[in-house]
Amino acid sequence: MQHAEITVPQEELARQAEFARSVKELPHRPESYYVVTYGCQMNAHDSEKIAGMLETMGMVPAEKREEADFVIFNTCCVRENAERRALGNVTWLKEVRKQKPDMVIAVCGCMIQEPGMAEIILRKYKFVDLAFGTANLHRLPELLYETLNSGKQTVQVEDRDVIAEELPIRRLRKDAAYLTIMYGCDNFCSYCIVPYVRGRERSRDPESILREAEGLAASGVKEIMLLGQNVNSYGKGLPGNPTFAGLLKRIDGLGIPRIRFMTSHPKDMSDELIETMAEGKHILPQFHLPVQSGNNEILKKMNRHYTREQYLERVSKLRAAIPGIGLSTDIIVSFPGETEAQFEDTMSLVREVRFDSAFTFIYSPRTGTKAASMEGMIPEAVSAERIQRLIALQEQLQQETLKRFVGREEEILVEGLSRRSRLAVSGKGRHAVSVTVDGNEQDIGRILKCRITNLKNNTLTGERI
Ligand code: SAH
Ligand code: SF4
Ligand code: F3S
Repeated sequence: MQHAEITVPQEELARQAEFARSVKELPHRPESYYVVTYGCQMNAHDSEKIAGMLETMGMVPAEKREEADFVIFNTCCVRENAERRALGNVTWLKEVRKQKPDMVIAVCGCMIQEPGMAEIILRKYKFVDLAFGTANLHRLPELLYETLNSGKQTVQVEDRDVIAEELPIRRLRKDAAYLTIMYGCDNFCSYCIVPYVRGRERSRDPESILREAEGLAASGVKEIMLLGQNVNSYGKGLPGNPTFAGLLKRIDGLGIPRIRFMTSHPKDMSDELIETMAEGKHILPQFHLPVQSGNNEILKKMNRHYTREQYLERVSKLRAAIPGIGLSTDIIVSFPGETEAQFEDTMSLVREVRFDSAFTFIYSPRTGTKAASMEGMIPEAVSAERIQRLIALQEQLQQETLKRFVGREEEILVEGLSRRSRLAVSGKGRHAVSVTVDGNEQDIGRILKCRITNLKNNTLTGERI
């Protein structure tokens, strides 16, 4: 696909800006908004764009969703429980609206992009005023105008792969920012719905990315997180075949103190990337490298295109080049047909690698994916027992892995007040571990030097230097 064909033209964005002004002029337009976000960083960042667009329509953020004139749910459908939670909360708001009849309810995001979902909204969720998919995000002003103007339910889902540049963004944090470098995914891991709801993989033009990063650097941002479903394959289809490592090198040169990225796919993780990280000045020593399973047959059925051995080789190379690098992963238990022995392979891989952290999930069948029609669904009780065993192992290992930080000096970027005490703040160290130190509100957004003194219940605490 040609890049020019998927980039939303300037005239279209200008048309949307015009709609935003028209909404602002409507006599009974919503004055406040609340965005409810589910799912991954992509969605979190999309929500920042939604908020940005709503503010151009003159709306201000509400404290609580019950108090907002316009509530929008940005949904996720990666697992069934994500979907169930979103729908449950949308339905709950229907009840709340009885007290606030002029509230406008919208639903958007990945769930709306699922086949058949538009019909379900039209038939079963008639109280939803507006629903649109991920491909229509930039058209929010137009769609909202239509809804408000007609007073009728508006549902818009398209199957288009677009890149919308320069949408207004209202960032949740001033000190740390998301920066999308690519959209969609072409990997079709057999369990995963993301390629169906986020479309084909498409990379942003490197110069636009650089411009955005420069803008963030100038505004004093301390950390940026580069986003994509598979950032390692960045550049596919772009003129000149830029690589992710090359892009990272250029961003590293801008002087932003901290650079992170996610997500990486082991099959596309190049030596060039490892070298770039080792030589980089500001690229944080941390890596999220989802393994999913430690068994080769399961990996094959998952369509992951690497073996356990290849995964371990990548990890060794990474650790050799960047000693002490913080390593995290995603794991799925109870993929269809997974035997006890195959699950044990995942356990032994976890023992072997010793991840700094792991996100663990029970396999959830997603309609339309290849795995959904595979035989051998694992009974719930077995899955529950397996995931508990895996979590227990990871916690025990994590306790040991975290010990290596005690006594060390770390720089943390303070994210907020500690949940346990108002006299303490917590933030992330360079290796992605959370550290709590003494401090107050004024420290939020600052980079603090501290010495880590203690580890208790998987929490590191320290003192400032
Ligand atoms: N693009 C990223 C993130 C995908 S979703 C990646 O490739 O890693 C995040 C995680 O959700 C995946 O890594 C996987 O572990 C999990 N996941 C995806 N689909 C799932 C499903 N159907 N059931 C259970 N877990 C799933
Ligand atoms: Fe899903 Fe696989 Fe793509 Fe990640 S790489 S989004 S798990 S299909
Ligand atoms: Fe969920 Fe969509 Fe992200 S399905 S995990 S919000 S890309």
